[in-house]
Amino acid sequence: MDGFQARLRAQLTHSLQFRLSFYLAATSLIAALVAGIVSFSAAMAEAHELQDSMLKQIAVLAAMTPGQNVGRVYTDLSTPDADEETRVSVQWLHHSGQPTTSSPSASNLPIPTGMGDGLHTLTVDGEDYRVVIRSTTDGSRVVVAQEAGMRNGIARGSALRTIAPMLLLAPLLVLMVTIMVRRLLSPVTQLSKEVNARSEQALHPVEAKNVPVELRPFLAAINGLLARVKQSMDMQRRFLADAAHELRSPLAALSLQTERLAQAEMSATAQDRLITVRAGIERGRHLLEQLLSLARAQTDAPGQATSSVSVSSLVRLVIEDFISQAEAKGIDLGMTDSDEAVIDTNEMALMTAVKNLVNNAIRYSPKGSQVDVGVHLNAERVCIAVSDHGPGIPAAERARVFEPFYRILGTEESGSGLGLSIVKENAVRLGAEVILTCTDPAHDRGLTVTLSLPCRPLSSQTHVLSL
Ligand SMILES: Nc1ncnc2c1ncn2[C@@H]1O[C@H](COP(=O)(O)OP(=O)(O)OP(=O)(O)O)[C@@H](O)[C@H]1O
Ligand SMILES: [Mg+2]
Repeated sequence: MDGFQARLRAQLTHSLQFRLSFYLAATSLIAALVAGIVSFSAAMAEAHELQDSMLKQIAVLAAMTPGQNVGRVYTDLSTPDADEETRVSVQWLHHSGQPTTSSPSASNLPIPTGMGDGLHTLTVDGEDYRVVIRSTTDGSRVVVAQEAGMRNGIARGSALRTIAPMLLLAPLLVLMVTIMVRRLLSPVTQLSKEVNARSEQALHPVEAKNVPVELRPFLAAINGLLARVKQSMDMQRRFLADAAHELRSPLAALSLQTERLAQAEMSATAQDRLITVRAGIERGRHLLEQLLSLARAQTDAPGQATSSVSVSSLVRLVIEDFISQAEAKGIDLGMTDSDEAVIDTNEMALMTAVKNLVNNAIRYSPKGSQVDVGVHLNAERVCIAVSDHGPGIPAAERARVFEPFYRILGTEESGSGLGLSIVKENAVRLGAEVILTCTDPAHDRGLTVTLSLPCRPLSSQTHVLSL
C-alpha cells in the first residue's frame, strides 16, 4: 500500500500526462457524483409526489360513496400476494373517528382522533404508513394508506434507473479522459523519441511539424541550444585541424634538419641519440596525420562527396599499400573470396577507415601470422571484414577503444590511439556500423573488425576471386 502511494505521489509529481489524466478524471467523477446525487434526490422527490397525488385521487374517489361504505375496509395492506405497487388500504371512519368494521382486523390502521385532513406519515408497530385523510359530505372520513417502506422502495428503484446511465458512463468517462490526454501529449512523446534516437553528431534543428503551438517556444529554445552546441563543436574541430596543420611545417623542417644532420660526421653516441630524435619526430608526424584525419572525418557532413565505388577494388588498393609493411613482419596479407559490390559512398572516408583497420591488424598481429580482408554482400549491406590472429581486444575494452587517445596497455606497438576513433567517425559519415568480434573464439585469439555499410545493390554485383 505504501509502495502504491509512493508510486502515485511520484507519478503525480513527475508525470504531466498522469497529472492531467488524474485531475481531469477526478473532476469528471466528482461532477458525475454530484449530478448523480442531485438527480437521485430529485427523482425520489418526484416519485413520492406522484405517489402522494395518487393516494389523494383514490381518497377523492372513495369519498364520493360515503353512505354505502361506512365501516368497510377496502384493501388489506397485509395481503401478501397483492401487487406491491397497488397495495393500498381504504377505510371509512365514523364521525367519531373510530373504524367502522364490526370486527377490527389488522388492516384497520388506528388513526389518532385529532388527526386532521390531508397527508400524514403514521407509524404503527414500527412500520411507517403514508396516509391521506379526507372528510366526506356526510361528515364521515375516508382514510387511504400505503406502506411507506414499499413506497420508498418503488421511488428508490425509479431514482436509480434515472442515474444508472450516469453511473455506467463514469468509468467510460475516465477511460476517455486518459486516452484523450495521451493523444494530446503524443507530439511530446514523439518529439522525445526523435531527439533520443539521434546520434551525438546530429545537431540539426528539431522540426516544429505537428508540435502544438504551446510547445513551440520550448522547441525554439532547444533548437537555439543545439545551434550553439554545434557552433562550439565546429570551432573546436576547426581549432584541432588548424593546430595540426600549423604544426606540420615546423615538424617537416625538423625532419629535414635531422636527415641532414644524419649525413654529418658524429660520434656513435650522437648517432644513437639522433635515431631516438628521428623516431620521436616520426611519431609526432604520425600523430599530426591522424589528428588531421580525425578532424576531416568530424567536419565532413554525412553523405557528402559520394560517388560510385567498387568496394573490392578499394580493398585491393589498400592491401597493395600495406603489402610491404606486412612483408616486413612476415605477415601473409590477402583478400579472401569476396563479392563484387559497387555502392554510392564517400570513397575517401571508406579508404581511410579500411586503411586504419588493416594497419592495426598488421601492427598488432604476431610475426608470420595471417591477415585476411573480405567483402561480402547481402540484400541490404556490404560488409568489409578485416581479420587477424593477434591478441584481440577483450570484450570489456571494445567500447573504449573507439575513444580518442585510448590505448590498451601491454602492447609493444606505439601509436597515437586515434586509429579506431577515425574509423568510427568515418563510419558515422558513411552510415556504417563497426562490429568487433573474435576471429578464433575457441582459443580466444584474434580480432575481426567488420565495417557494415548500407548499399543499393546494382544489377552488375558479381562474385570475384581472391587475390
Ligand atoms: N587488430 C587489433 N588487435 C589487437 N588490438 C588492437 C587491434 N586494433 C586496435 N587494437 C587496440 O586498440 C587500441 C586503439 O587502437 P587505435 O587504432 O585507435 O590506436 P593505435 O593503433 O594505438 O594508434 P593509431 O592507430 O592512431 O596509430 C590500440 O592501442 C590497441 O591496443
Ligand atoms: Mg591504430
